[in-house]
Amino acid sequence: PERTLVLVKPDGVRRGLVGEVLRRVEAKGYVLVALEMRTADRDLLGAHYTEHAGKPFFEPLVDFMASGPVVAAVVEGHRVIEGFRSLAGATDPTTAAPGTLRGDLGRDWGERVVQNLVHGSDSPESASREIGLWFPGLS
Ligand code: GTP
Ligand code: MG
Repeated sequence: PERTLVLVKPDGVRRGLVGEVLRRVEAKGYVLVALEMRTADRDLLGAHYTEHAGKPFFEPLVDFMASGPVVAAVVEGHRVIEGFRSLAGATDPTTAAPGTLRGDLGRDWGERVVQNLVHGSDSPESASREIGLWFPGLS
């Protein structure tokens, strides 16, 4: 079955929402196959967000993502990439649909970069690349 990389970002960890995010993933029926808490270094984050390198929000994004521990998970299930993006909701938490993680639990805090609680890979190619970055030992 398909796999995706899910991150509970530093804002989600600081706000005590790790359990709620993982609960919704599991309640949807997806399976956790790897799980780790760590503070990512800037090299890892630069590689993770390589598609955004050079954009004006890149440095604030990396600063934010390095600001505290994240919870990284590999999640498995048929169509899980699309399914987790649907659970997460739109990038902007102010307008993300209610019922989604970002819509229910997120808001704009007026920070330099929008803090939107979670990350999910956006394609099979991204998922494979990101899982390799975050869990290099995983088969
Ligand atoms: P991720 O799960 O973090 O990858 O979010 P996403 O896939 O919904 O969005 P995307 O990959 O396009 O952007 C990554 C992160 O960069 C977002 O979560 C935002 O924090 C930030 N970001 C994206 N687009 C913009 C933008 O146009 N302006 C600003 N200020 N930040 C942005
Ligand atoms: Mg993205």
